[in-house]
Formats: sequence, C-alpha cells, structure tokens
Amino acid sequence: MSTAESVKVVLLGDSGVGKSSLCLRFVTNQFRPYSEATIGASFMSKTVVVRGLSDDDDAVARGERHVGFKIWDTAGQEKYRSLAPMYYRGSQAAILVYDITKPGSFAALRDWADELRRNGPSDLVLAVCGNKSDLREDRLVDRRAGEEYASSLGALYVETSAKDGDDVERLFVDVARRVPSR
Ligand code: GTP
Ligand code: MG
Repeated sequence: MSTAESVKVVLLGDSGVGKSSLCLRFVTNQFRPYSEATIGASFMSKTVVVRGLSDDDDAVARGERHVGFKIWDTAGQEKYRSLAPMYYRGSQAAILVYDITKPGSFAALRDWADELRRNGPSDLVLAVCGNKSDLREDRLVDRRAGEEYASSLGALYVETSAKDGDDVERLFVDVARRVPSR
C-alpha cells in the first residue's frame, strides 16, 4: 500500500545563496548559471516516492510514501524580508540555506532561526543547507561549523551543489522523512 501526502517546505536565506537554484534542480533537474534574483516568492511542486522508515523514532514502518512537495522559494533581498511570514507560517519544514563561500550568509541564518523560533509554527522541521559545495577552493565556512550549528538547532544538515546536483534530492527527501505523516 502507498499513501499520498503533501509536505510544505519554505526556503529562507540571503540573496544569491542558491535557493531558487536548489528548487530548480530538485523539480526540473536543471541549473542556470545566471539565475535572476527572485521577486517576492515563487512556488513549485513535485511528487516523489520516498522509501523506508521515517527518521522519527516512534514511527512505525511506513513503507512507501508518495510525497507531494509544495515548495515556497522566498526572495532573499532585504526589501522582501517582511513577506517571509506569509510563507513560513503555513509550512511544515524550513530549509535555511547559506553559501559555503560566504560567511555572512552563514551568520545570517541566526536571524532566521530566531525569527522562526518566535513566530514560526512550533512543530516546524528545520534543515540547514550549505550550498555551492562544488566551489571547494573558495570555501570559507567549514563543514564542521555548519554541522555544529545545525545540531544546536536540532536541525538536519546537508551540503549541496545545485550546480552539480549533489545531495539536492537527499536534502528534500530527508526533510520529508522528518515531517510526521498524517
Ligand atoms: P534570491 O532569489 O535573490 O534570494 O537568490 P537565490 O538564493 O534564489 O539564489 P539563486 O538560486 O538565484 O543563485 C544565485 C547565483 O548562484 C546564480 O548565479 C546561480 O547560478 C549560482 N548558484 C546557485 N547554486 C549554485 C551552486 O550550487 N554552485 C555554484 N557554483 N553556483 C550556484
Ligand atoms: Mg531566488
């Protein structure tokens, strides 16, 4: 038996970290080297089959789940910041994205995490995503720092490359596994 369910996810983080590129890679398996800054927000959806157990310790074996991702890709530019609550309030999971070559984008996640703690849904599943893992030579944020920060939030941690596609599907699927099925 399989079940169909939806998982509502929002992506947050500075402009240019690759939120739209991660969504585009996940949904259409494409990459645009000159992607334009998002205006307001954009919505995408995709259904995938997720196999195996949930990460939730109490969960019973759920077998195969058809998960319909409903993804809000927010705009990172400061002028759109006040719109964010419209998108995270109805979400089950938030992916906090930074660029591993931009320490400022990593530091900016603290403000998002604080805001979500204050105003977000209490049962929000969190993930921290270090994107642009293909830019190894330009890395300025250690993987370890990302992992430690994620663990301090009780969030999962994934490093991705929207350019190469590395671990992009894993990011979304691991997030879905943490969202309790209903
Ligand atoms: P806003 O919409 O302004 O919030 O930005 P964003 O987070 O959506 O960034 P976007 O996806 O538009 O990507 C910004 C730039 O980074 C683009 O030129 C992308 O091609 C590039 N980019 C995104 N992901 C990667 C990646 O994994 N590796 C590399 N090398 N470049 C990337
Ligand atoms: Mg964008």
